[in-house]
Amino acid sequence: MLLGVNIDHVATLRNARGTVYPSPLEAALLAETHGADYITLHLREDRRHIRDDDVAAIARAVRTHINLEMALTPEMLDHALAVRPRDVCIVPEKRQEITTEGGLDVLAQQQKIADYTRTLAEAGIRVSLFIDADEAQIQAAADLGAPVIELHTGAYADAANHNERAQRLAQIEEAAYFASERGLIVNAGHGLNIHNVTPVAKILPIAELNIGHALIAQALFIGLPAAIAQMKETMHRARSAV
Ligand code: PXP
Repeated sequence: MLLGVNIDHVATLRNARGTVYPSPLEAALLAETHGADYITLHLREDRRHIRDDDVAAIARAVRTHINLEMALTPEMLDHALAVRPRDVCIVPEKRQEITTEGGLDVLAQQQKIADYTRTLAEAGIRVSLFIDADEAQIQAAADLGAPVIELHTGAYADAANHNERAQRLAQIEEAAYFASERGLIVNAGHGLNIHNVTPVAKILPIAELNIGHALIAQALFIGLPAAIAQMKETMHRARSAV
């Protein structure tokens, strides 16, 4: 199971003061040296954290690869085609949200997503669709030819109580099997941390986890290398116990 380290919130901290530090590029390189399998970053339309120059610098410098999260807009499509990351994860984006609140509505915009996916695929970019654990959405993603989906784990992470968490986890597990039976590569992410990652890491069809906020937060206290090591150990212990 692979870990994509999302470094957006290194940029959040930098932008809070308009300084040049902490550097998302430095974080990306440090993360790779200490076990990140690749670097995930979200170029939001409002540029609240990652900026265009971060994407360009990180894409040039990484030794693994980048997974560029972006909205379904012509501007972002142009960015992706210029940068040519190995992966693009298409996410829904609302300006006022604190973070990506729900999955992409693939059913409602199947043709548009199919067109973007084809254009990106022709440029050699692997497309992932960030969706909720919902069979209709997964089927729509498979039907339009997306090779990868990322299941949104936010509702699981934010569950108010044990019963709701168990229910959300079961939905993620069923969705992961449903998707892999349809030939999709299945990733997952959002809101995962050292305390809630184990049950998700045990779901066998899930190939990769993308984790950001909790890792960067933990890095404030124990450093980024130790935070990544702790996360990878927890993921691998969970997976090897299945
Ligand atoms: N996956 C996707 C598609 C995301 O949009 C995000 C947030 O940028 C993450 C994973 C990581 O979420 P978190 O920062 O809560 O770990």
